[in-house]
Amino acid sequence: MQFIDLRTQFERIEDDVRARIDAVLQSQQFIMGPPVIELEERLAAFAGVRHALSCSSGTDALVIALMALGLEKDDAVFVPAFTFFASAESVTLAGGTPVFVDVDPVTFNLSPSSLGRAVDDTLAAGRLRPRGIMPVDLFGQPADYRAIEEVARAHGLFVIEDAAQGFGGSYHGRTAGSFGTVAATSFFPAKPLGCYGDGGAIFTDDDDLAALIASVRVHGQGADKYDNVRIGLNGRLDSLQAAVLLSKLDLFEQEIAERNRIAAAYTHELEGLLVTPTVPDGLVSTWAQYTLLAKDADERSRILAALKDKGVPTAVYYTTPLHLSTAYAALGYHEGDLPVCEDLSRRAFSLPMHPYLSETDLVLITQTIRECL
Ligand SMILES: Cc1ncc(COP(=O)(O)O)c(C=O)c1O
Repeated sequence: MQFIDLRTQFERIEDDVRARIDAVLQSQQFIMGPPVIELEERLAAFAGVRHALSCSSGTDALVIALMALGLEKDDAVFVPAFTFFASAESVTLAGGTPVFVDVDPVTFNLSPSSLGRAVDDTLAAGRLRPRGIMPVDLFGQPADYRAIEEVARAHGLFVIEDAAQGFGGSYHGRTAGSFGTVAATSFFPAKPLGCYGDGGAIFTDDDDLAALIASVRVHGQGADKYDNVRIGLNGRLDSLQAAVLLSKLDLFEQEIAERNRIAAAYTHELEGLLVTPTVPDGLVSTWAQYTLLAKDADERSRILAALKDKGVPTAVYYTTPLHLSTAYAALGYHEGDLPVCEDLSRRAFSLPMHPYLSETDLVLITQTIRECL
């Protein structure tokens, strides 16, 4: 059994992918070729924003967006501590400092009340200047944008949506990837919309910011290609990856619906045995992960061992909350600082999740958990 079955999807789209790749090979336009332009137009339309700029990875999408926002030393960006390392790392790479915030115990997303406290504490300490907030659409579920945007407005902060896992989901009718000043997503192969290598995209409605992002993406180039007007990087998406994404984009909405069907079936079978995921009314998750909570670390270990015995792959996202990661030790956080993130890191685990999970596999997985408990 696969944790994420990309092969079955490939079999479905193989002819189209091969034709699109062949067209790139024929054109020999490997950088910024026609598929990149077409993809950016389709992504912007999908997200409902004016600009979608493709780039080399989800991490680079965040870094480029933050560089374009002009992050400076001693600028604080508020980041949930229960997320993938790249969310915080991008802030550091762009020259700022992440300030870690606790998450909501039900949705696992940035807690607006903890965010408000973190902003107040940062202002009171006076060492860092609050500049921005990075909500993460964890496991595919959009963060609480109404509440977060209120905090942002009150303090004059930008919002950068980390939609690496959430792109394609929605929040009260609005597509994830369209929130904040700017949003970023990842096309890592295992993501709900993934390519066959690394890739990402940046979304914004702001024309000036889009122009800055386009410049930072290519070594800070100016009107003249060889007049570099700012520091940037080589952050473009290849035409070959864009070709793959165009093929997958045709299936994306249907696959999100399938993921939702499978998530509902998991929840139906496991509700009451474990803490099953909660999606608030008005939100649609992409189910980048289907993540449950065991009673404690021991129970999680027992379940993971039982599933492994039956050949079921699982994953634990995330064993270390970012405020306790070695790389950020110098920031001086301690165990107990962000109790919800720490609790989740001991109890959360994820089951196989992809649009092609069979009924037989679903029964094996849920029965194994039931017997184990
Ligand atoms: C929440 C989050 N942010 C950022 C990233 C970085 O994306 P990438 O791996 O494409 O650099 C990922 C994906 O791995 C992620 O899950």
